[in-house]
Amino acid sequence: MKSILITGGAGFIGSHTCLQLLQQDYFLYILDSYVNSSPKIAERLDKLLCQINQKLRDKFKFIEGDIRDESMIDGIFKCSINENRPIEGVIHFAGLKSVAESVSSPSLYWDVNVGGTIKLIRIMEKYSCRTIVFSSSATIYSENNRSPLSEDSEIKPYNPYGQTKANIENLLKDLYTSNDSCWRVINLRYFNPIGAHPSGLIGEEPRGKINNLFPYLNQVASGNIKELKIYGNDWPTIDGTGVRDYIHIMDLADAHCLALNYLIKEKKATLLSINIGTGRGTSVLQLLKTFESVNSCKIPFRFVDRRLGDIAISYASNDLASSILSWRPKRNLSNMCIDGWRWQKLNPYGYE
Ligand SMILES: NC(=O)c1ccc[n+]([C@@H]2O[C@H](COP(=O)([O-])OP(=O)(O)OC[C@H]3O[C@@H](n4cnc5c(N)ncnc54)[C@H](O)[C@@H]3O)[C@@H](O)[C@H]2O)c1
Repeated sequence: MKSILITGGAGFIGSHTCLQLLQQDYFLYILDSYVNSSPKIAERLDKLLCQINQKLRDKFKFIEGDIRDESMIDGIFKCSINENRPIEGVIHFAGLKSVAESVSSPSLYWDVNVGGTIKLIRIMEKYSCRTIVFSSSATIYSENNRSPLSEDSEIKPYNPYGQTKANIENLLKDLYTSNDSCWRVINLRYFNPIGAHPSGLIGEEPRGKINNLFPYLNQVASGNIKELKIYGNDWPTIDGTGVRDYIHIMDLADAHCLALNYLIKEKKATLLSINIGTGRGTSVLQLLKTFESVNSCKIPFRFVDRRLGDIAISYASNDLASSILSWRPKRNLSNMCIDGWRWQKLNPYGYE
């Protein structure tokens, strides 16, 4: 059994990925500061594993700590050796992800996202662990590209959050090109993950101001927010509202398992950047109508002015994910809306 360090593993994408990895031949050291997640995730994972297979319950360990704390990361690697299961790879989710907050607090974003990654890399080098799957983002692509976005579309992030992601990719590229090492790197560039595990036991727990569309829809459907504000109805799209590529969180979790398995088997230095999206664009109104129809509810909405920095259309080309990882999305928009709403109904206050 291989040991893997999962940073930010208590978060939305991390928790779903941990669940999938635990059903494979991996032991997980899961590091999180809980700045944007809840320690209760450990109980939920345990409950889910109990339902799947009791034997999987002892295959993970949570560690509370900050990715910027180098000696703490060192301690995790040391501990994995002492426990006779040295960490062989890392999936690096830990980071801050609010575009708006990155505009108001850029130095914090550079410190946590870029600074934290540098600390992690230093320790990985110390322990000769050179396998990493990194959480990158579609926000690194230039606004001027036309969708579908392929991996060689122009990279020109337009906010500090996107800058940090592009710069971490640059750092990983420099490591890969350095002569004396054999780094195996996959940058997964996610589009818009939504939905939840079908059990309703784990899901997305947004903290602070809600900026993303799906958590917003959930709040309006719950009656906590009066109406959905739709930013612009005059975009050059099918119905005038913005088009994005929504992907089921379980499909995204599966993509991580495939990426990790690929790197673990790969013997030579590797650097791959791979889009993870469905390859289909969905407008705000299409998502809203699907949500209403599959969940038999009504979402009041109002059109307001466009937001600065938004673009009309963004969706992925996922040819590379399909050819290299044999990954294909298995869940559709209805699954995303049903599963995401189930999580919200069962957990109106998140993990509390
Ligand atoms: N959700 C998206 O739409 C999306 C899209 C593209 C990329 N990403 C990236 O994927 C990764 C995971 O995203 P998510 O949606 O699961 O977000 P999330 O906020 O739910 O998860 C991130 C986790 O990292 C932890 N964390 C933050 N700072 C930390 C620190 N200094 N030390 C240790 N842990 C820390 C948080 O507590 C949280 O549990 C992030 O890097 C994010 O930028 C997310």
